[in-house]
Amino acid sequence: MPNPYNVAVLVGSLRKESLNRKLAKALIAMAPDSIKLEIVEIGHLPLFNADHEKDPPAASREFKAKIESFDAVLFVTPEYNRSVPGALKNAIDVGSRPYGKSSWSGKPAGVISVSPGAIGGFGANHHLRQSLVFLNMPALQQPEAYVGGAGDLFDESGGLKKPETKKFLDSFLAAFAAWIERTAKAPG
Ligand SMILES: Cc1cc2nc3c(=O)[nH]c(=O)nc-3n(C[C@H](O)[C@H](O)[C@H](O)COP(=O)(O)O)c2cc1C
Repeated sequence: MPNPYNVAVLVGSLRKESLNRKLAKALIAMAPDSIKLEIVEIGHLPLFNADHEKDPPAASREFKAKIESFDAVLFVTPEYNRSVPGALKNAIDVGSRPYGKSSWSGKPAGVISVSPGAIGGFGANHHLRQSLVFLNMPALQQPEAYVGGAGDLFDESGGLKKPETKKFLDSFLAAFAAWIERTAKAPG
């Protein structure tokens, strides 16, 4: 049993001042001892092209190897047009191929959607969950994490301003850590 479990964090936004990235960084700092979170970048990945499936670009191969080195995956994503941003969907597609060699299969997953809007990226959160079913990634169900009003969550240094947000995220991380312990594949 790995101690801690290593968790890849995929951030669905590529912009520098991303609220999702700020939340991911806050989560990294507050994670319990049993899990270690690390952002895996996706912005440099080439668009998936099935013509290259047998000989994928180096960046795609490296991304797959990196994902395979983690025990679990946490998605922190905005909602674009009521769905998952293209950059994140592309990373998922890149990691899922070649056919039969998905890098995702069996890895426990968590989903947090973050939006300045009131409904906290619900649409993206659930579209992502649809892919996780096909990818065979057991996804934490409760607590659901739709983080709304995100424009007002962080202070100037990226710290969480509201104790209730921190309390909720602590409970999410505790549940996610327990979920990983229950569902992670044995190493090797
Ligand atoms: C192309 C695009 C589509 C968007 N669609 C939605 C949407 O469907 N729902 C929503 O709540 N916010 C939507 N937004 C607003 C984003 O939630 C907002 O830009 C947010 O800050 C993006 O996350 P980030 O701060 O991590 O980059 C959209 C933004 C863009 C650029």
